[in-house]
Amino acid sequence: MNQTGNHNSESDDAPWTVLRLLQWTTDFFRSKGSDSPRLDAEILLAHARSCSRVELYTAYASVPGDDERVAFREMVRRRGSGMPVAQIVGYREFYSLSFRVSEATLIPRPETEHLIVEAIDCVNAMGSFESNPWIADLGTGSGVIAITLAKHLPQSKIVATDISVDALQIAKWNAEKHGVSERSDFVQSDLLSVVTQPQHFSLICSNPPYITVDEYSELDRSVRDFEPKTALVSGPKGTEIIERVIELCRDRLMSGGWCIVEMSPMIADSAMAIAEEAEIFAELKFVKDLAGHRRLLSMRRR
Ligand SMILES: C[S@@+](CC[C@H](N)C(=O)[O-])C[C@H]1O[C@@H](n2cnc3c(N)ncnc32)[C@H](O)[C@@H]1O
Repeated sequence: MNQTGNHNSESDDAPWTVLRLLQWTTDFFRSKGSDSPRLDAEILLAHARSCSRVELYTAYASVPGDDERVAFREMVRRRGSGMPVAQIVGYREFYSLSFRVSEATLIPRPETEHLIVEAIDCVNAMGSFESNPWIADLGTGSGVIAITLAKHLPQSKIVATDISVDALQIAKWNAEKHGVSERSDFVQSDLLSVVTQPQHFSLICSNPPYITVDEYSELDRSVRDFEPKTALVSGPKGTEIIERVIELCRDRLMSGGWCIVEMSPMIADSAMAIAEEAEIFAELKFVKDLAGHRRLLSMRRR
């Protein structure tokens, strides 16, 4: 059987309505091991019909045309082979904004939205002490952190770096789309190595690669096959890049400024030990994600 209506089950005669396509595809994706089969089906069908997911709910009885069904069938085939939905449709929602993604970028994860909340809180807490904050986003990927912060902190100026030229192109495109290009620079750099200005940032954020070499081999096939390894793997310990980001704070984070890094809960203790040993922070705290896992390390410079 297939989801386009060219199947031979007992319900052959029933039209392939939006609802029926969604039901069939949800079952198909579930059988393929998707964690969110219904959501995947809705995003793909909405994309094929050039409508929003909400509009599908009022169109359950309608029968998509041939072009829509052909486009949907191809997307379902790709999803069935493990390709992430975001890469099939070419975008991902993050903090209620839509971001273009590609095979060169990590697909933004919902956990990273905690970093945005924490960063906005930290900048707001600085208040008039730092009314035009300079923010660095290290390992920007699709630019989600840099651009979301630029949108929500209109007085800020952003420097976002990545080692991947291809990822930076996507990030620049996203910055244009969201109207923040004039306040954000996207630079190819190993962390801040080629960035000389400003000398001191008010906030340094990073969702760096933090997966260990061993953990990588255990990751879901769809992550390993479709997302860049350089975006995920840090080294044998998982803390290698976090350690370098923390060390950068010695010379590049202003007194009273904040550094916020995302990490996996498995390396939270090691990351905290590295931050303590640096002896440059007045305050260190973990921020937990919705599952209660320690997801961010937030550090205020002395
Ligand atoms: C986990 S991804 C995060 C992407 C994006 N910030 C997000 O949250 O979706 C890490 C990013 O860091 C970049 N990266 C890895 N090593 C780097 C380095 N030494 N300097 C700058 N960027 C690096 C990768 O290319 C990748 O885009």
